[in-house]
Parts: sequence; C-alpha cells; structure tokens
Amino acid sequence: MRKDEVLDPSPHEDERDFDEQIRPQRLDDFPGQNPIKERLRISIAAVKARGEPLDHILLCGPPGLGKTTLARILANEMGVDIKSTAGPVVERQADLSAILTSLEEFDILFVDEIHRLNHAVEETLYSAMEDFEVDIMLGKGPTARSMKIGLKPFTLIGATTRAGLLTPPLRARFGDMCRFEFYSPEELAIIVNRSARILGTPIDAGGAFEIARRSRGTARIANRLLRRVREYAEVKADGAVTKAVADAALRLHRIDELGLDDMDKTIIAAIIDKFGGGPVGLNSLAVAIGEESQTIEEVHEPYLIQLGFIKRTPQGRVAMLGAYKHFGLTPPDDPQPSLF
Ligand SMILES: Nc1ncnc2c1ncn2[C@@H]1O[C@H](COP(=O)(O)OP(=O)(O)OP(=O)(O)O)[C@@H](O)[C@H]1O
Ligand SMILES: [Mg+2]
Repeated sequence: MRKDEVLDPSPHEDERDFDEQIRPQRLDDFPGQNPIKERLRISIAAVKARGEPLDHILLCGPPGLGKTTLARILANEMGVDIKSTAGPVVERQADLSAILTSLEEFDILFVDEIHRLNHAVEETLYSAMEDFEVDIMLGKGPTARSMKIGLKPFTLIGATTRAGLLTPPLRARFGDMCRFEFYSPEELAIIVNRSARILGTPIDAGGAFEIARRSRGTARIANRLLRRVREYAEVKADGAVTKAVADAALRLHRIDELGLDDMDKTIIAAIIDKFGGGPVGLNSLAVAIGEESQTIEEVHEPYLIQLGFIKRTPQGRVAMLGAYKHFGLTPPDDPQPSLF
C-alpha cells in the first residue's frame, strides 16, 4: 500500500471484515453527530407512535463519517429490514422497480452515491417516494403499455458525498437532510476507545487521544490508524497502546501530530515555493507535484481547508498563514491582508 493511502478517507478492500466487527449497531452506540442523532431519535419515537414509516432521509457529508453505518442503525432502531444499492449500480428503471416492489411495509431502501443515479431511474424514484407507486412497462414494442403498481410504504435513505450534485426535484422529496460534520478529537477518542475494546486491545487515554488528533476528523481513518498502532504495539511493545506507542507508530507511517502526511506537506510546499503562495489552479498544482488532481481534491484538500491551511478562491488555491507557521516557513513580506 502506498504511504499516502493510510489517510485516504474512502474504504479499502481489505478493511471490510474489520469494519463489520466494529460497526456500531444502535444510536446509543454511535458517538458524535449529536444534532443528527437528536433529530432522528425524535423522528423515530414519533413515527413509531403514529405507526408510520420514517420520512425519506438524505445523509450527506465527506467519506468515512458514518453515513452507511447510520442508515443500518436506523433500520435496527425501527426494527425493519434494509436493502442496499448504489447510484451507479441501478442502471435501468426495471432494476429499481424490482427492488421497490420487493420491500415490505416500512422497510428501508438505502441508495449510496445517490447523486449518481441516471435520469430515467431518478424519475422512477420520484413517484415511488411521493405516492408509493411505480410505473411498470408491460410487453414490448408498439403494444407495450405502462401500468401503475402500488408499493408498500417504505423509507428511502440516500447517501452522498456531493449533495450539491443532487437535482432539486430529488432533493425536495427528502423529509430530512442530515449533514455530517467532521468529528472532534474528543469524539474520535471515544470512537477509538470503543473499537479498541471490541478488538481486545488495551489502550490508555493518552494513546486514544494521540490517534484521535491525527485522524483528520474522520471515523474511518481513526479506526484505520488504530489498526496500524495496534500492530506496532503487538510487535514492538507489550500490546498496549499508550501515547508513546501511538506516537512512535504513527511517526513510522510519517503522519504528523495534526494528521498530515508527506503529500499534504508537498502540496503546501508547492503552493508556497513554486507558486508564491498562490493562487494556483488545481491542475497546475497537480502537474507540479505529480499527483492526480482528483486525489488532491478529495483526499488532501478537505482537511487542509478544515485546518485553515489553504483556501479555495475563484482564482485558485492559496496558502494561509497557519500553513506557513506549521511548516516553519516565512510568510511573504507582503501577505495579502484580505486573505490572512
Ligand atoms: N460515529 C461512529 N462511531 C464509531 N464508528 C464509526 C462512526 N462513524 C463511522 N464509524 C466507522 O467508520 C467506518 C466508516 O463508516 P461508514 O462506512 O458508515 O462511512 P460512510 O460515511 O458511509 O463513508 P463513504 O462515504 O465512504 O461511504 C466504519 O468502519 C464505521 O464502523
Ligand atoms: Mg458509505
């Protein structure tokens, strides 16, 4: 595995079993995202009392914050089944109709990457969500006719990392839109402690916090770093994760105390040294450092922006004062005052 992939917030193939083992199952077992949980608890209590399905819910936010996990938790809390699919997988209207007609009353249909549904499939979803009906085509050619079929009341849970790409008609059909926030280091420490407990790994408060503050606000990265630190603790120490063990393990992976790796440093250094602190366009930056622009945009930038180290402007990326300070670089004599 390439070093920089440790901090990639998207899932790795080899993590699936590990994920299943530590995935929270109930709302009370899911640390963080408090405003979302609060609202959902109320909705669940209300619809259970009324004997109705949950409203359609859109979960949006960066990768690895717990959207899929929360969708499954909602099914557990409602005591219903969940069927999962993803935007790019449902190619034809008939595929979607087949899934919809197989749902039992109040079941959940989870559609991941919902912004990637094709137009025809998306239109089928409109009447399914609004009226619990789908049009089914019977026959072929000139004799083909469509027939409306009623569906059992169900809940659609859509997840997306790119809420901005959702079409307005689809967005309007969700009763609730839950925006996930990056986790605080304190919340990530709770997540790390919980996972360590499940894995049977001894960990102290210092060890958990050391991993948490390097996890870029992302639950998936926290769990991944815990795995690496645990391996290190088993081989190089007595198996217990302390602050010193976590620090040594993560240094070995070249992840600094803010969770930045060599590629983050390269990006900042290039903006500063090669482009005078910016603004520089994403593509020029990508060429200058030999990295794909998509990786820069999806893996590195969100966290650098969250730290206030770079800023996206209409003219391009600009390095901010915090970045100069963190890497011990001297800001230009004439910093653009409006930007710093
Ligand atoms: N609040 C949390 N507490 C504990 N573990 C969590 C929490 N949120 C997520 N996780 C863990 O982080 C990992 C990633 O979560 P999940 O797959 O739900 O993220 P996601 O938002 O669906 O990501 P993607 O956008 O890539 O699909 C899982 O292993 C999950 O168990
Ligand atoms: Mg997911």
